[in-house]
Amino acid sequence: MDIDIDAIGEDLPLLEGIRTTRAIRRLKPDPVPKALIRKVCEAGTFAPSGGNRQPWQFVAVTEPARRAWVAERYRKAFADYIAPALEAAKAPDFPESGRRMQRAALHLAEHLHEAPVHLFVAGWTRHGQPQLQALMPAVQNVLLACRAVGLGASLTTVHRAFGEEIDAWLGLPENCPTQRSSSVVGSG
Ligand SMILES: Cc1cc2nc3c(=O)[nH]c(=O)nc-3n(C[C@H](O)[C@H](O)[C@H](O)COP(=O)(O)O)c2cc1C
Repeated sequence: MDIDIDAIGEDLPLLEGIRTTRAIRRLKPDPVPKALIRKVCEAGTFAPSGGNRQPWQFVAVTEPARRAWVAERYRKAFADYIAPALEAAKAPDFPESGRRMQRAALHLAEHLHEAPVHLFVAGWTRHGQPQLQALMPAVQNVLLACRAVGLGASLTTVHRAFGEEIDAWLGLPENCPTQRSSSVVGSG
């Protein structure tokens, strides 16, 4: 990808960007330049946080074998999560928009290993408690920044069913768990 990382995404009107940032679950597998990943993470660091403590840590997983490891766990947890909704969707009056979202979510689960970046947002605990309220604004900033630079992304948490295993595997210390938030990023 031959792009000017400093210039890209700097001219998107804010409200238009907010309105048009959607969960993108059909992602191209093309690699994303490291500097671009860094750029969207940097946007995350401008989020508000209690006491301005900025507890976030960003971990980008890009190696195919490691993405496969995450995807395998995500798929298992997702199958349990989606089963009742798939059942409910058999009803004739189930909204078509809901079925469309289910199809997209199923597609993401099936192709998660192909998404070029699995971006985990972890955070330091405070007095033993997670500071999730600070992490979610950071995640939203990352999603908006992805929109601005032309990357597709979606917020996922289903893998948290395997939370501690994934945190240990990511090499995160016990007082810096991923706390339910990660984004899957790819070229949209
Ligand atoms: C806290 C949270 C966790 C979510 N976890 C997942 C997930 O694991 N997998 C998934 O496909 N969608 C998940 N979603 C839903 C999507 O990321 C997205 O917000 C929703 O489908 C709305 O999409 P839209 O912005 O395109 O309307 C989650 C949303 C939130 C707020």
